Amino acid sequence: MNLGVNIDHIATLRQARYAAMLDSPNTEPSVLDAARAALKGGADSITLHVRSDRRHMQDSDAFAVRREIPLPLNLEMGADELMLGFALSLHPDYVCLVPEKREEITTEGGLDVLAHYEELVPVVDALSVAGVKVSMFIDPDEKQVEASARLGAPMVELHTGCFANSAGMKRTEEVGRLASAAQRAAELGMEVHAGHGIRIPMLTELSRVPHLTELNIGHTIVARALVIGMEAAVREMKAAIHAQNWA
Ligand code: PXP
Repeated sequence: MNLGVNIDHIATLRQARYAAMLDSPNTEPSVLDAARAALKGGADSITLHVRSDRRHMQDSDAFAVRREIPLPLNLEMGADELMLGFALSLHPDYVCLVPEKREEITTEGGLDVLAHYEELVPVVDALSVAGVKVSMFIDPDEKQVEASARLGAPMVELHTGCFANSAGMKRTEEVGRLASAAQRAAELGMEVHAGHGIRIPMLTELSRVPHLTELNIGHTIVARALVIGMEAAVREMKAAIHAQNWA
C-alpha cells in the first residue's frame, strides 16, 4: 500500500502570515522542506492541490516540488481550462480531478462525474494525450466509477470523508460502499486510491476495502508533524499502514 502525502496545510500555514508578502525572506514554513521531510519519512508520492483561488499552494510551490523532489507528483485540481493549462505546463505524474467550491475549507464531496461528464471529456483527453495519468476523486458510488471508466480515466480516488466521519453501524455501511465501488473499479481495470479524513485509528477498518493501492493523507500527518516533526509523522503513518493486512 502506497502513501501519498498531501502537504497543502504547510502552504496554508505559510499563507496565514505571508500571503501578501511571498517575496519576504521570512516566509515559513517551507513547502519544499516539508516535501523533503516526507520523502525521508518514506512517502511514496507527494500530493498538492493548486486551487484556482491559489489560497494555499502557489504555482511556484508546485514547480519547486516537481523540480526538486524525486517522487511521483499528484496534482489535485478543479477541471477547468485555466487549471488544465497549468497542469500541462507542470506535467505532474498524476492529476486528480476534484470538485472545487470557493467557500469550502477543504474538498467536500466527490466530483459528480455523471453530472459534469461533457465538461470533463476534453480535460481528461488533453491530460491523457500529454501522458499525465488522470484520477477522478469520487464518492464511493458504482455509477460514478463507471462514468469515470467511460471517460478513460485509469484511476479513481474514493472519497473516504463519510467513512471517516461515521461511527458504529454507519461506519460498517461506509466500508461496504467503499468496497463495492473499489470492486467495480477493479473489474473495469482501474487503479483504486482512497483519501480524505483518514487517520491511523481507522486503518484497520479501511483495510477491509479490497483493491486499494494508495492512500492520500494530509491533515492528520501535518497535525502530528507539529509535535514530532514531518519526517517522523510520515514514518509513523507508513508503519501503521504496513501493520495492516490489506484485503
Ligand atoms: N484526497 C483528496 C482528493 C483531497 O482533496 C484531500 C484533502 O485535501 C485529501 C485526499 C487528504 O485529506 P486529509 O487532509 O483529510 O487527509
